[in-house]
Amino acid sequence: MRLSVVGCGYLGAVHAAAMADLGHDVVGVDVDARKVAQLARGEAPFFEPGLQELLLSGLRSGRLRFSTDPGALSSADLHFIAVGTPQLSGRAGADLSYVDAAFAQVLAHGKDGDVVVGKSTVPVGTVERLSATVGDDDPRVTLAWNPEFLREGHAVADSLTPDRLVFGVADGARDDAAAAGLAQVYEKPLRDGTPLIVTDWATAELVKVAANAFLATKISFINAMAEIAEATGADVTQLADAIGHDARIGRRFLNAGVGFGGGCLPKDIRAFQARAVELGLADSVVFLDEVDKINLRRRARVVELAGELLGSTPGRRVAVLGLAFKPDSDDVRDSPALEVACALRAAGAEVVAADPHAAANARARDPELVTVDSAEEALAGAELVILLTEWREFRELDPARTAQLVSGRRIIDARNVLDPEAWIGAGWEYRGLGRR
Ligand code: UDX
Repeated sequence: MRLSVVGCGYLGAVHAAAMADLGHDVVGVDVDARKVAQLARGEAPFFEPGLQELLLSGLRSGRLRFSTDPGALSSADLHFIAVGTPQLSGRAGADLSYVDAAFAQVLAHGKDGDVVVGKSTVPVGTVERLSATVGDDDPRVTLAWNPEFLREGHAVADSLTPDRLVFGVADGARDDAAAAGLAQVYEKPLRDGTPLIVTDWATAELVKVAANAFLATKISFINAMAEIAEATGADVTQLADAIGHDARIGRRFLNAGVGFGGGCLPKDIRAFQARAVELGLADSVVFLDEVDKINLRRRARVVELAGELLGSTPGRRVAVLGLAFKPDSDDVRDSPALEVACALRAAGAEVVAADPHAAANARARDPELVTVDSAEEALAGAELVILLTEWREFRELDPARTAQLVSGRRIIDARNVLDPEAWIGAGWEYRGLGRR
């Protein structure tokens, strides 16, 4: 099929490359000339395992190309909208201006019979609103929403072998032209047995925000238990193991720690609340306000713990291990790790941070932040170590060898990934979050 992908950020770049891998002819369109040039050379503009290889094989096959020219959209019959929907500045709602602009661009360069498929995360009601903007002079297009569930760090696998597909089409009709087009696009994963839900626009929009709201709630639930555990001498990791054995609950996404961040969960739960207020349904999602507050309290708790362990913070040398919002990503958007590092610096600590891939992005956000290339350099002379992103190389640090590098054996394991006994055995003062 001849496809276009409008927006070549995290979502769009991976999606375009994945679609070419599935055998389609794909043009990715983005306004950012630098990003387009990088992608056209086969360079991933961000760190995502496996993306570089996927891009290169797509470009070599001749099925994948990138352009800044919206005119390139006229070569495709099915268009994916994969632009960002960031949080509005100073408000909880989502900024839909990029989605609106992308849709207008597709209408300007599309033709009768084209299918327009949104992938971006949008508030419920957006597709209805977009469809109402189609004028008499615009081409007769069919509109659908096909939410994306990819996780950073696993984006390639999540795109090529998704755990489910959702097609939101007008009236939820399976014989809709867009549903038929999408079935062709995803012919391979569907043949391989990927579950498919064909539904209406509103459900498809809600599926995505509901999934992210549930995941955020699960994390904040266990972090609330961590707060209780801290006050009562219980251990939240054992608690999570014990409740996680109940198949109805499940152990995944029950890792207590410094909480969730990134470009999705925080902004999506806030946009969901803002949309609920507009619908007069604020009470239905009022719990998400608590989910957000619990999450942010965990960041403050790490800063507080640092103060407790050091006695006083000003002038003290702190090694921060990790800046990305999660491992296998260079993304620092709403990163708990970066926020803790900045808060400690603001409190007067001499912070030296290391992250295998996110240091440059972190410095772009906070030019004053001191970063070094390796954990060893960050640890040298540190009076306190804080593990904030659970990269493998940090999880595998040897407590005895690490003790040789620092000037004070104090560690906060803000992701609860270290073995407390091993660290305490090597003479460390160890603190996890919600752990004895
Ligand atoms: C998320 C959704 O998982 C994905 O389906 C959606 O498409 C986009 O948003 P992502 O932002 O890549 O994906 O990260 P995810 O793996 O969900 O982790 C989000 C945050 O939660 C990270 O900061 C992570 O460290 C944190 N987390 C995750 C926990 O604190 N505890 C856990 O048990 C799991």
